[in-house]
Amino acid sequence: MSAPNRVVATAPGKINLSLRVGGVDERGYHALATVFQALDLTETIEARRADHLTLTVDSQVRGHVPTDSSNLVLRAAEILRAEHGVTDGAALHITKRVPIAGGMGGGSADAAAALIALNTLWGLELTAEELHDLGARLGADVPFALHGGTALGLGNGTDLTAVQAPCELTWLLCAPGGHLSTPEVFRTFDRLVADAPPPVVPSPHQEQLDALGAGDLAAIAGTLSNDLTGPALAMRPDLEELLAALSGAGALAAILSGSGPTLGALVEDETQARRIQEAVAPGAPEAEFVIAGGPVPGARIIEQD
Ligand code: C5P
Repeated sequence: MSAPNRVVATAPGKINLSLRVGGVDERGYHALATVFQALDLTETIEARRADHLTLTVDSQVRGHVPTDSSNLVLRAAEILRAEHGVTDGAALHITKRVPIAGGMGGGSADAAAALIALNTLWGLELTAEELHDLGARLGADVPFALHGGTALGLGNGTDLTAVQAPCELTWLLCAPGGHLSTPEVFRTFDRLVADAPPPVVPSPHQEQLDALGAGDLAAIAGTLSNDLTGPALAMRPDLEELLAALSGAGALAAILSGSGPTLGALVEDETQARRIQEAVAPGAPEAEFVIAGGPVPGARIIEQD
């Protein structure tokens, strides 16, 4: 088949079903034991043949998306060009649906979709393992956006093992307005645990892995947890009330997604999600709600011509 002129790829946003945080390494990255789940709230990247690298964005969520070299999509393109002697450009276009700086891995999903799309557009034929390694250099959540499904993430979150999770989960996601800086949330974590440091290498949440394997929704709800909740609430005290409102309105459980500030309420089904949204929305006028499901596959090509 001749090389395509245009490739479209998608990659999923994520929620962390559990996030245990340990010690810091010399690069400032924390050891994690986390269970990721990929959600059907996806980013789309279109890559077209072009002489130069350019980036445009069509955002369906509020907030600013940089289109300069700080954008992970351009960094993904540059790393591929530098490592694989590519001299071609590409006209890249992001369609954003995952909340920006919300703890749901939207920027990482953009990078994963860009790696997949450009691998095909430029005929590089990189393996999944090579893409994983490049992804890990771009950000700790990029390998999971490539992998998808439900996975245990160890190390910095980049050492992934697929988790058997036969149960489909439905989420009411609540983006409360505003952003949280991931490095700042981790720094606040370090300050809060300074007197009683956690284990340097945290252990996976075995009870949660068992509940996922059994497909037991109530047990899964009982194990949702996130060590970054304390620091995120210290930075955004308003989130506490919103978490309580989601639980109070009938969610099976409500958690902070990643480093926040997006919250995820685990629900029985879409009808219950809508009921909870109606109950909570009047008290949170800044919040945006979206219903999402998981697990879904990782980054993949959906069109090429
Ligand atoms: O890898 P990524 O760019 O998404 O990480 C953003 C920041 O979050 C890092 O610079 C670091 O401060 C923090 N982080 C961390 N430990 C991890 C992942 C991220 O401290 N495992």
